[in-house]
Amino acid sequence: MIRGILKMGDARLLRVARPVETIDADLHRVIADMYETMEATNGVGLAAPQIGIDLRLMIFGFDANPRYPDAEPVPVTTLINPWLEILTEDKEDGWEGCLSVPGMRGLVPRATHIRYGGTLEDGTELQREAFGFHARVFQHEFDHLNGVVYPQRIKDMTQFGFIEALFPDSPLAELEAET
Ligand code: NI
Repeated sequence: MIRGILKMGDARLLRVARPVETIDADLHRVIADMYETMEATNGVGLAAPQIGIDLRLMIFGFDANPRYPDAEPVPVTTLINPWLEILTEDKEDGWEGCLSVPGMRGLVPRATHIRYGGTLEDGTELQREAFGFHARVFQHEFDHLNGVVYPQRIKDMTQFGFIEALFPDSPLAELEAET
């Protein structure tokens, strides 16, 4: 089932989400709904708090994504109670959008090299290193679990705005206007 996505300003996006305690049929249903919702909106990731579910649960990944046409593929991953370790002091600015902030993009500094992990849907543990856009996507979704939406990370607010105004010649604006 496609779920409604909360928009920035909703207090439920500002909560520190609760850990998942049991991986049961209800949780599997939430995960299936999250994938359906992410696909319907061309998202590259979705965190449970964005559909109003107060749990430390996120999904992300794609082979190719029309909203980020230049991004390298990111493995499709479901993570329960994820953790993050930053492996470098280097940060890189990159344009981010969010399904909870539709039609907008902002330039966000993120660590370029991380290690992350968490529990998979089958109960096993995953651990991985990531760089570049992959690391960015993880950090963005992980932030949602801690009540942080990307505009809170922008250092230069002149680099935040509506897609059609920031990138007037890009097909991205039309794409997001439809979703
Ligand atoms: Ni987001």
